[in-house]
Amino acid sequence: MKRTHNCGELTGKDTGKEVVLAGWVHRRRDHGGLIFIDLRDREGITQVVFNPESSKELHQAAQSLRNEYVVAAEGRVRNRPKGTENPRIKTGEIEVEAAKLTVLSAAQTPPFEIEDESQISEELRFTYRFLDLRRKPARDKLIIRHKVCQITRNFLDKEGFIEIETPILTKSTPEGARDYLVPSRVNPGKFFALPQSPQLFKQILMVAGMDKYFQIAKCFRDEDLRADRQPEFTQLDIEMSFIDVDDILDLTERLMKEIFKKAIDLDLKIPFPRLKHRETVDRFGTDKPDTRFGMELIDLTDTLKGGQFQTFEKVITAGGIVKALNFKGKADLSRSEIDVLTELAIKLGAKGLAWFKAGDGNVESPIAKFFDEARIKAMLKKTDAAKGDLILLVADKQDIVNGALGQLRLAIAEKYGLIPKGSFNFLWVVEFPWFKYNDEEKRWEAEHHPFTAPYEEDLQFIESAPQKVRAKAYDLVLNGVEISSGSIRIHDRQTQSRIFKAIGLSDEEAEARFGFLLEAFSYGAPPHGGIAPGLDRLIAMMTGSASIRDVIAFPKTQKAVCFMTGAPSDVSEKQLKELGLSLKK
Ligand code: AMO
Ligand code: AMP
Repeated sequence: MKRTHNCGELTGKDTGKEVVLAGWVHRRRDHGGLIFIDLRDREGITQVVFNPESSKELHQAAQSLRNEYVVAAEGRVRNRPKGTENPRIKTGEIEVEAAKLTVLSAAQTPPFEIEDESQISEELRFTYRFLDLRRKPARDKLIIRHKVCQITRNFLDKEGFIEIETPILTKSTPEGARDYLVPSRVNPGKFFALPQSPQLFKQILMVAGMDKYFQIAKCFRDEDLRADRQPEFTQLDIEMSFIDVDDILDLTERLMKEIFKKAIDLDLKIPFPRLKHRETVDRFGTDKPDTRFGMELIDLTDTLKGGQFQTFEKVITAGGIVKALNFKGKADLSRSEIDVLTELAIKLGAKGLAWFKAGDGNVESPIAKFFDEARIKAMLKKTDAAKGDLILLVADKQDIVNGALGQLRLAIAEKYGLIPKGSFNFLWVVEFPWFKYNDEEKRWEAEHHPFTAPYEEDLQFIESAPQKVRAKAYDLVLNGVEISSGSIRIHDRQTQSRIFKAIGLSDEEAEARFGFLLEAFSYGAPPHGGIAPGLDRLIAMMTGSASIRDVIAFPKTQKAVCFMTGAPSDVSEKQLKELGLSLKK
């Protein structure tokens, strides 16, 4: 019996046809003699009926079926009796009256029901991922992922990009996470690193004259995992020659528009807003802001300076700042509700959370007594406070204030339902600082990666005032998640070596790590740049998934293990010996 149709395609137009369907027994129901099987495959569910009056034997065979058996059934398509149609599924008008049945494979009772809404633990789901993926919502995410890849390929092909694979067994790349290492048997004591991204190869492809490159690339990073981080993940990796920042942003916007339209029928408005890094952090406390709601951070340092509240005065005198959120209409929160927010702010790094409830031109606050009327008035004006608003303030060093209030803003929005459902807010963050100071190691390091080009007018500050150097780097943020990152690259050796010096990389170290790239640059390198949207994060956002694990066929857990295969696992003594390795007891 070879199948003639899938389980999601037969409709009233097919009545009378002799068909063969194959799939999994989704459900079996016995109804006064008649047995109904919901037969399921990737495309849907079709009802198959076994009537004891047409064949006792066949009916008995149907009786022995259990959930998740794989069967093939032959029969005729007919309309369901009036009143028994199921308008919720495409095949709901018809059923197949079985004439033959073959059991292709029996099944144990699954550890959880293959129902669409089943609430099961992640551990169980990922241990039995092959069962999990039989569920429609899980499967649909992979189908959307497939579509996004196809759309990307078609789009970039039309734009003149060529898809080129780069090595997986390679040398350490500059993204700055820990490497996954692979020992080389034929070169004892030597290791490959799995690429954290194809960064160096795609730049070399530009030197090679490939002009426009892309790759749907696996990347590997041994870092602490979170809901939006996996040890191996996928980038839509892109690089172009003879372009500047705007060309990449424009291409990415059109790619996103195409993806959202074709994969989930959503119209995105482009161009996306662009915000400079400095302004982004000032307004949202983070460089990946969720702009689906307001409640921005407001600087009150100058407004409140000179008041009698010693906590604030000390902070301001020491060069710190005071910032606030206006939690609109929430002056009716009780003391204990505000205490909960205070505890949260403290958990997020603040030393406390001061507050003012706005009344009719006056305020209520434990610290109101420390401020004169002019300062209170100015504060209410600056925070755009109306009667009934709750102003929340944190004073500290700039980074601490931004970190605590930025996260408090998100937590409040989450807790009090301020985030509109179903909106996709894209935002470009541009003009990142080139350098960030590593307090522990007491040195400047790259905010993006060391091949990122500074703005020409800032080159003069590389040695004298690194904090002033802006990078031609950009992040695409969607609903508070960094979904892409990229930059224009340095393409002349002289700037590259000044940069290496500034981050404390000696000529010898630079040569040892990136010599092959520098060598390539000395043979004529075009100006170039690129970007790498994180495919997993993008799909997770598009499908409303809480974790990127849900959009990866076989993901790893927070502990970087695969529940299904048990990887990583022990290896034999023999394997270790061949590699010239031994394990410490
Ligand atoms: P970056 O390191 O910012 O840039 O990575 C680009 C994008 O990849 C995604 N991403 C991840 N997704 C899941 N799990 C992870 N562990 C993970 N790490 C990163 C994010 C991020 O925005 N070579 C540069 C790109 C370039 O300059 O062209 C790079 O890799 O969505
Ligand atoms: P205190 O004077 O320490 O009793 O604090 C009075 C109020 O100010 C309390 O509501 C504290 O939570 C708050 N507070 C204390 N330190 C800070 C700070 N650094 N920033 C904002 N509020 C603070």
